[in-house]
This record gives sequence, C-alpha cells and structure tokens, in this order.
Amino acid sequence: MKKRCLVVTGGGDCPGLNAAIRAIVKRASTEKEWEIIGSRDAFNGILRDPMEIIELDNSAIAGIHVRGGTILGTTNKGGPFAWPVQASDGTWIEEDHSAEMLRKLEYLNVQAVINIGGDGSQRISQQLFEMGCNIIGVPKTIDNDLGATDTTFGFPTAVEIATDAVDKLVTTAESHNRIIILEVMGRDAGWIALHAAVAGGAEVCVIPEIPYNINKIIERINKRIQNKHGFVNIVISEGACPLEGTHQYQNNDEFGHHNLRLGGAGNRLMHELKEAGVATDIRVTLLGHLQRGGKPIAYDRILATQFGVKAFEMVLDKEFGKMAALRDGKLVSVPISEAIEKYNYVNLESDLVQTARDIGISFGD
Ligand code: F6P
Repeated sequence: MKKRCLVVTGGGDCPGLNAAIRAIVKRASTEKEWEIIGSRDAFNGILRDPMEIIELDNSAIAGIHVRGGTILGTTNKGGPFAWPVQASDGTWIEEDHSAEMLRKLEYLNVQAVINIGGDGSQRISQQLFEMGCNIIGVPKTIDNDLGATDTTFGFPTAVEIATDAVDKLVTTAESHNRIIILEVMGRDAGWIALHAAVAGGAEVCVIPEIPYNINKIIERINKRIQNKHGFVNIVISEGACPLEGTHQYQNNDEFGHHNLRLGGAGNRLMHELKEAGVATDIRVTLLGHLQRGGKPIAYDRILATQFGVKAFEMVLDKEFGKMAALRDGKLVSVPISEAIEKYNYVNLESDLVQTARDIGISFGD
C-alpha cells in the first residue's frame, strides 16, 4: 500500500491555495511510493462521519492554479480541538477530538500531513505536532501577518485588488469633490492598507499600528483642499483604532467562529469627521471579501507553487513540525512554533512607511 500524505487548507481562503495544492500533487507524483489525499473543509473532512476525503491525482489538479478559492474547501470553524457536538439539552458545545482524528489518520495510512493555513491553522499544526503528528505547515494569508516568513501568497493579490479599488475611487471622488474612505481587510496588521495607499496615491492611510488622532487627519484634509483639490482618498484598515479608542467589531452569531469579526472602522471615521465639522461630502466603501476572491496574480501562483514543492520535499526529508517559508528571497523551513510566536506588524521604521510619509501620506499621527 502506498504511503499517504494528507493535504488540508484551513482558515480564510486566499488566492494561491489551488496553485499550492497542485504543486504538492505534481511533485509527489514523481515519488512512486506516495499518494496525496485531501480532507474537505480543513480537518473537518476527517472528523466527520463518514469522512470526506478527496483523491488528489494529476487529473484532479489539472489547471487549478489559475482558480481562486480552494478545491478542498476551508473553514475557520470546528477542527480537531474544538469539534462541535450537540449536548442533550440541544445546545452546541465544543469538544477535543484530536486523539480520535489522529487514530483516523493512522487507519487511513496517512504518514504525513501538509496544513496550508495562516496563524490559526498553524497553531493547530503545532498542537498536532506536539501530539506526535508528522505535520508540515505552508503559510498563506492575505493579511501578511505571519512571522518567520518574509511574505505569504494571497497578500500580493489582495493588494492588487485594493489598489484597483483606490484607482476607481479616485476618479469618482474627483468627479464629485468628495472624501472617499476605503476600508480594507488585514486584521491587526496594516499591510494591505499601506501598500494600497502608496500604490493608489491616497492622501491618508490609517493602520492599526498607528492609533489615529482625528485632528491630524483633518489637518491633512484641509491642506489638500486648500491646495485646490476638492477631493481626498483615505484607506483605512479594518483593525484601525482612534487614539484611546477600541476596535470596531461586527456582530458575530456564528457558533464556532473564534475570531471576533472586525468591520466598521471606515464608517466610524466618517462619523468622527462629520462630528468634527468636516463639511465635504463623505462616502465609505467596504471592500470586504472581494480581496480574497478570484484569480491569484502571477506572483502568488509562483510563490504558492514554490511553497507546495518545498512542503512535499520537507515531507520526504521528514522535517516535521516545520513550515515552508521565504527568507531573503530563499525557500527555507522554519519551526512552526517560530511562525506563530511573532505577529508580523507593519514596521513603523521601515523604508515603505517613510516613503509614504515623504509623498505626503498622513497616518493620522
Ligand atoms: O484573515 C483573513 C481575513 O480575510 C481577515 O483579513 C478578515 O478580518 C477575516 O479573514 C474575515 O474572516 P471571515 O471570512 O470569517 O469573515
């Protein structure tokens, strides 16, 4: 019987996942004693009864590198350590089913697991590794917030989409002499906002790493308007906060979704500007999940392909408990523990932040 390598995609989807799956399967197809299977919706496909497993051979992955999303499905609910079960009183509770899942993997002759995911998924990888699972991590996220790797696939495509949105909003803001606020994703890291603001030419960029002073934003708006420009473009991260303020969350009534859902920072900023007496018309655009959908750009397809091949080679080399990463342009393996230990915030001393300031972008500080 062939050795099996299980591939899962977990957490929020992002462009490039299919390219990574394809690369793993293509690289593995040159090793006669291995075959690749996938679990539907992260590890939930293994945990379900009956199990939901997908055979991943060359015909299953043909041409998928250009497609967004993931052919395996994904989720940020459930999982081996928080499996939802209905209690006798009808309420839902979460149970640890990790030991049962590892037994199922043994039964399936799974000798290695490749978990493609962000921060939350790699925390699961680390816990499973500590229980003896032969697991390898592959980083992905549009947020670019994972430590131990220079970047992740998904982020460049999200930046491209956000920049395209800024470009479009500039022309309508200009036509109507408006202030337009674009709210982008990124959770607690301002990478998408920073890149889109510089690439798209916004006047103000509000990121979680720099709590904003509303008066400083108004100063920048006034300076622009006095310069005979009647319109202003602002890019704000969903995780941005005013000085001494708190995050803006949306209601979340989904059982098992552990992340508090950010959202509303753009609307809050609009109300603050209006309350402070800004008379120019203001509109808010929430870019939302458009940033995660659709085709990956070439860079993401390439990085995802490199990570996929590297991950399977790490399986062959038994580098378990490690994650494929990019460091100084080189493909390397790093301990998963290192990747989840350090959150990748925007470095306020970086050249890019300085460049943004040098071209007149205000961070509201
Ligand atoms: O982590 C990726 C991300 O898109 C964040 O930028 C965002 O806050 C979150 O996921 C949204 O999650 P969901 O798809 O559950 O709404």
